[in-house]
Amino acid sequence: MKDVLLRLAMIDGGIVLDAATGRGEFINTIKSSFRTYEQVIGVDSSEKCVSYAEKLFPENNIEIYRMDLSSLAFDDEHFDTITIANSIHHLADPIAIFGELKRVLKKKGLFVISEMYRDGVQSDAQKSHIIMHHWLASIDRKFGISHNETFTKDELIALVEKLKLKKTEIYDYFLPVDNPKNAQNCDNLIRNCQDALKRLELAGDAEDLIREGKELIKRLGDVGCASANRLMIIGHK
Ligand SMILES: C[S@@+](CC[C@H](N)C(=O)[O-])C[C@H]1O[C@@H](n2cnc3c(N)ncnc32)[C@H](O)[C@@H]1O
Repeated sequence: MKDVLLRLAMIDGGIVLDAATGRGEFINTIKSSFRTYEQVIGVDSSEKCVSYAEKLFPENNIEIYRMDLSSLAFDDEHFDTITIANSIHHLADPIAIFGELKRVLKKKGLFVISEMYRDGVQSDAQKSHIIMHHWLASIDRKFGISHNETFTKDELIALVEKLKLKKTEIYDYFLPVDNPKNAQNCDNLIRNCQDALKRLELAGDAEDLIREGKELIKRLGDVGCASANRLMIIGHK
């Protein structure tokens, strides 16, 4: 983690695109960790996420747009830096989207990718995170939203190799958690899972997912939850 923070602190981001920004979580990382940035533009296809993130960043040099990554409304070579965090496994066609992201990145521009992975040595609390992620992904798919299972570390590296980045650096890290059974954190996660369970019960025809969800909620109470291991992959176009 320390290596990752030191590396991010060396980045002068210039004009940054945060692709699939969601609720803007990675924009907060850019703000707190990049050495400098001129402007950050966050884009996401979800109306709900965009309206949440818009309210979060009143700064003049941070803008949020609803946009699909498969067709970006920016000129070729507009951005100095592109970031994409925890989102590659959400993409229906990552290779096509990589092409579009490269189009809008300047020559020698910087790509910063952060993505969790599911294999290797992970604590029981980290396994809860992975199980929860896969359960929520199954629910998204049931409701027609693109969301795949997370990658293995090798799958992720192989996929990012398709970007053909230069001077690639790979950091393997996790966000340390003091107490995976932290009551407030677990209560929030359990509440999210209970909301998802209600949606499943209303939709019907989801007995297996409902059973898995109940087991997951029990697991969150028993062993807690901690962020799964991640890769940060940094390279130049
Ligand atoms: C886990 S969330 C983003 C998390 C955030 N970037 C972070 O740092 O934690 C994944 C996001 O990908 C978005 N997404 C999926 N496919 C997309 C697409 N084709 N174009 C734009 N956004 C997309 C979803 O709407 C969702 O908000």
